[in-house]
Amino acid sequence: MTRTLSVPLAERSYDIHIGQDVWEKLPDFLAEGMKGDHLIVVADERVYRLYGERMLNLLKPSGMKVSVHEIPEGEQSKSFAQIERLCREMARLGIERGSVVGALGGGVVGDLAGLASSLYLRGIDVVQLPTSLLAMVDSSVGGKTGINIPEGKNLVGTFHQPGAVFADTTVLKTLDTRDWYSGMAEVVKIALTLDPELFRYLEGIEDLGPSGGADPVRFIEAACLRKADVVREDEREAGLRRVLNFGHTLAHALEASLGYGVMRHGEAVALGMQAALVLSKERTGLSADQYSRAMAVVDRIPVPEVSIPRDLTEFLVRDKKSVGGKVTAVLIRAIGRAEMVPLEDPGELTQALRTAIGD
Ligand SMILES: NC(=O)c1ccc[n+]([C@@H]2O[C@H](COP(=O)([O-])OP(=O)(O)OC[C@H]3O[C@@H](n4cnc5c(N)ncnc54)[C@H](O)[C@@H]3O)[C@@H](O)[C@H]2O)c1
Repeated sequence: MTRTLSVPLAERSYDIHIGQDVWEKLPDFLAEGMKGDHLIVVADERVYRLYGERMLNLLKPSGMKVSVHEIPEGEQSKSFAQIERLCREMARLGIERGSVVGALGGGVVGDLAGLASSLYLRGIDVVQLPTSLLAMVDSSVGGKTGINIPEGKNLVGTFHQPGAVFADTTVLKTLDTRDWYSGMAEVVKIALTLDPELFRYLEGIEDLGPSGGADPVRFIEAACLRKADVVREDEREAGLRRVLNFGHTLAHALEASLGYGVMRHGEAVALGMQAALVLSKERTGLSADQYSRAMAVVDRIPVPEVSIPRDLTEFLVRDKKSVGGKVTAVLIRAIGRAEMVPLEDPGELTQALRTAIGD
């Protein structure tokens, strides 16, 4: 079963192809939908080892010249150093305005290659080829690109929509269980903030793990549909799109303070959602019943034991939603209904996390 959704953004509109073997559609898309004749595939070392050859073989019929750029695996590659390496490689390879970047990998590759494609020659086309669950349900859609700096996660980035997204679900079979769950955290986020029906589907699946029986095409499609709706309404996150940051203010602070890569992004988001639910019960009137149901689903995402840093304030106030140094929390009033709540004290979030994990 395959699905094609569209993200309608006038001249920046594009399609998301989801399902088994959708990569087979790539050569035709490149030949017909893209103007250039040179594609640079950016992949991390693990993904390239697993899928590089298949991708190169698939691309042969497109008639394009294909180059490859590998980056080290992991969150630490979202750095200025890797942006510089990639841009200099593009220059050496003769990448031109009409050339295309193919971001083959998880969210790290998507964010890094997306950013480089928006900067190089003031912007060239990028096609997102997500291989992790997280990238399929979230990061490959919507055009956010970014890298981290020691002062904070994703603080440097651009909006640069892809020309298309091809989420070939056959590749999910090689994903580590931890990375699977990390993607599931973003699915749960979409369900809790925007999609009660998706929430009920997840609630009915006791095991959210890779062999738990959930149908990936079903929930990738649901997540992408919701995200496409939000991006159509608010491409540059001036309002509605901020709800997709549920659990993320705290997650980004944890990732930056613990050191990038110590936790998977989705694991940090799961902890952030636990805290946001505790705070929602106190601040928005989320009912006890909905709180318990929501927490029960978030609890199905395993998170490693970490010692929560004493003070996350400096990272929390640098959150992109902060106004005048005041942190704004994304909370839920009910399952599927998010709202923004300004916090007097960012410490409320850290305290809510301590309550959630019984620290
Ligand atoms: N741009 C956005 O809108 C957005 C949204 C959410 C998250 N993100 C970003 O996404 C990043 C996290 O993404 P991620 O979890 O995909 O991390 P990742 O890219 O590091 O991938 C996780 C791991 O899975 C491996 N992997 C990927 N596909 C595989 C496959 N098919 N088989 C085997 N291994 C595979 C990778 O090599 C890596 O080791 C974070 O940096 C986060 O900030 C961005």
